[in-house]
Amino acid sequence: MNMLTKSLAGLGLGAALTLFSSSAMAAGGHGCGTFTNAEGEDVHLACSEAPVDFTNKGSLQNGAKLFMNYCAGCHSAKYVRHSRIAKDLEIPPELVEKYLMVTTDQIGDHIDSEIDPEIQASWFGAAPPDLSLETRLRGDDWVYTYLLSFYEDPSRPWGANNLVLKNAAMPHVLNNLQQDLSEEEFRSEVGDLVNFMAWMGEPSRHDRQVIGFFVILFLLVLLIPVYLLNKEYWKDIK
Ligand code: HEC
Repeated sequence: MNMLTKSLAGLGLGAALTLFSSSAMAAGGHGCGTFTNAEGEDVHLACSEAPVDFTNKGSLQNGAKLFMNYCAGCHSAKYVRHSRIAKDLEIPPELVEKYLMVTTDQIGDHIDSEIDPEIQASWFGAAPPDLSLETRLRGDDWVYTYLLSFYEDPSRPWGANNLVLKNAAMPHVLNNLQQDLSEEEFRSEVGDLVNFMAWMGEPSRHDRQVIGFFVILFLLVLLIPVYLLNKEYWKDIK
């Protein structure tokens, strides 16, 4: 291979690596911690795979509803505007104003928590972090597994503990939902919630992957005429 084709192949490979490594990162891979079982053995907890699919608007809409109802009381998502939810999730702005704006009356505002995080820190012992980029920090699968891993523990202040985040300061806020639904229904609701959180973390993730695919395809196709052209240029000299 000569210089030109080499550098072109390098470019394609580099772009492919960037694309795949960033999507692998976003998909998690941090593991979901270890916990000590009743026999006193350390058990490694495998992450469950979060059903993230940005093309499923129904799931994202349901996730937005769950997030605003169950999470925004304590957690902010300060990089996300309500107007962007309306636009990307295809929810009419009137409905967003009516049902999803729990902490503000301006649709251009970011998602703020209802209660000041500092006051909450004094209640819970830890301030609830902003959740805009939570799935980027921990991975979709970690967040999904975390939300599915609360269990009853009378020794904790709120009567609940978590297998993934030991002695989590967060109460099991989805407990009522979990009680009312079957296991499968509950997992599906949490799946929608995490799908929405993944969208919050990177609203253009799906577009990036689609565009990335076509960019690589374009580069590969371009390689053919460039290779032939290169051959043509050099044929008399060699
Ligand atoms: C009653 C207040 C409250 C509500 C409601 C609440 N959380 Fe939390 N959350 C907390 C607190 C406090 C922490 C900090 C836990 C810690 O560090 O021990 C936390 C931590 C978390 C974390 C872990 C952050 C990290 O990386 O360590 C995630 C993820 C999370 N919450 C998601 C949610 C989701 C999703 C909802 C809605 C279903 C929700 N929370 C509702 C109080 C709340």
